[in-house]
Amino acid sequence: MCGIVGAVAGADVVPVLLDGLKRLEYRGYDSAGVAVLMQGEIRRVRKIGRVAEMEQAVKEAGLAGTLGIGHTRWATHGGVTEPNAHPHVSNGQIAVVHNGIIENHDEEREKLKALGYVFESQTDTEVIAHLVHHHYQTSGNLFKAVRLSLIQLRGAYAIAVIAVDQPDRMVCARMGCPLLIGLGEGAHYVASDVSALLSATRRVVYLEEGDIAELTRDHLHIEDQHGRHTRRPLHVSDVSLSSLELGQFRHYMQKEIHEQPKALSDTIDQALEDGLTSTLFGPEAETILRDIEGVQILACGTSYYAGMVARYWLESIAGIPTNVEIASEYRYREVAANPRHLVVTLSQSGETLDTLEALKYAIALGHQATLSICNVRESAIPRASRMVFYTRAGAEIGVASTKAFTTQLVALFMLCVVIAKLRGRIDASKEAAYLDTLRHLPGSVQHALNLEPQICVWAEHFAQKSHALFLGRGVHYPIALEGALKLKEITYIHAEGYPAGELKHGPLALVDADMPVVVIAPNDALLEKVKSNMQEVRARGGELFVFADLDSHFGEQEGVHVIRTPRHVGLLSPVVHAIPVQLLAYNTALKRGTDVDKPRNLAKSVTVE
Ligand code: G6P
Repeated sequence: MCGIVGAVAGADVVPVLLDGLKRLEYRGYDSAGVAVLMQGEIRRVRKIGRVAEMEQAVKEAGLAGTLGIGHTRWATHGGVTEPNAHPHVSNGQIAVVHNGIIENHDEEREKLKALGYVFESQTDTEVIAHLVHHHYQTSGNLFKAVRLSLIQLRGAYAIAVIAVDQPDRMVCARMGCPLLIGLGEGAHYVASDVSALLSATRRVVYLEEGDIAELTRDHLHIEDQHGRHTRRPLHVSDVSLSSLELGQFRHYMQKEIHEQPKALSDTIDQALEDGLTSTLFGPEAETILRDIEGVQILACGTSYYAGMVARYWLESIAGIPTNVEIASEYRYREVAANPRHLVVTLSQSGETLDTLEALKYAIALGHQATLSICNVRESAIPRASRMVFYTRAGAEIGVASTKAFTTQLVALFMLCVVIAKLRGRIDASKEAAYLDTLRHLPGSVQHALNLEPQICVWAEHFAQKSHALFLGRGVHYPIALEGALKLKEITYIHAEGYPAGELKHGPLALVDADMPVVVIAPNDALLEKVKSNMQEVRARGGELFVFADLDSHFGEQEGVHVIRTPRHVGLLSPVVHAIPVQLLAYNTALKRGTDVDKPRNLAKSVTVE
């Protein structure tokens, strides 16, 4: 969602701001802007649409300066218009960029109007700009003005603020939204995530909840929420610039789909070296996991589907009761919590606000055993968890999650085997067999990727359709859901995922020659059941597109198209079956000419509820 970048330096910061905003594009946005202190004035350029269009306008305006802030906005309060784009400026004197939502903005707007402030936008952010201006008038101290303003505001924010008469100073703050400070040579930077700063610096400090920071070229001063001077640890980011480049690929989503064999083997690597031991989940894991009586998984979107797959594994392999819930539902429900259940949060970004809040709620309910499975180091969710497992998918830029999903699946599978071992459910030979399946998984995934030419032929057909149905059973039911989600996210074709056994209870009414039905049909215990469900579709004139394992002896016939995925890989089969549904969505989107990496209305990191 919204992205922030800012800089105070000895040289022109506009190139850093523009480069940073381009690197934040993946988060999802609909307008962009920068404000720079130039010749004693705050000069600002804002545009709806892409950063490239805004960049052109910046060049035309000849913007340059040594202090500036930039923003990509994903509209929440107020439509996608230039006056609503950030930065917001108060009386030409204070400029603010903001991520998050100020809940009491209406109330504060009325008070500010009564003080004579005139509002130019419909945003909650403009309230911050005027409020800081108001306090700056009385205190003459920008840091103090920001602190006084934040005391009056409720909600979530990451902000960066500059003042027209403070050419070497920026004030930043965070509460509920990520923000980090970059340390350069005679320069300081601020950004929502480290990728925005990589061309300037890798040395960063992460602000904590409630922190307010003052940055000058060579000084960084941080105060915690109680106003105490504090230091935050320095991190050197290992995110590589090449992982953020497209290389030979047309889209990030395509690149990320094809990176899966490597992402999986990187994630599995540690287990292959050291075995499936609890240390994979941290030094405390053995003590914590030994005592648990159940598992509660919390996540959103694609990560939630990974959790659904894991439930089948945890209950069947580890014999441990498992519940999976969408984080935004869990956090507002009166939960009858069992504090002896392990809470597992799944999040690629580690920033999804609903997942973070659900975790905090679970902790408040008494859960002490918490594990975050996450792809972004030092992000908010792992920082709030007792145990952490980082998937090694590398940066995921495409809004629709792909490699993060499959690496989450292997992480969850490893967790399941570790819990099963601690509960005495599996012996050494079983563990060796699971390790062997993990070892061969990247190869099977590569084999599935090689099916792309056949999938492209199907994509031609799907691109003409308005609806599609995805069916799966058992551990592959979540893969049907994920296939439908991928298709709707990036092609805008309406798609539904169903457990095949539910067909007769509703969705069968929709089936006709215009509704393609995708079936995930692995060679497992439920194969015969799935075949019966397929007959039900055929009998109503529905056309079937079946992903069947090589060893499941499926024949093509009229109205039944079959693509053979690799030989059945046992329990890890959902990982392999995720690949063709990703490829189907991607290639259908190509044919329809949609914006694959930045689908309309969606964001990569959903940092608001
Ligand atoms: C957004 C993204 C999805 C992602 C979901 C959860 O909706 O577009 O791809 O699955 O958020 O994100 P997380 O980072 O928590 O896994």
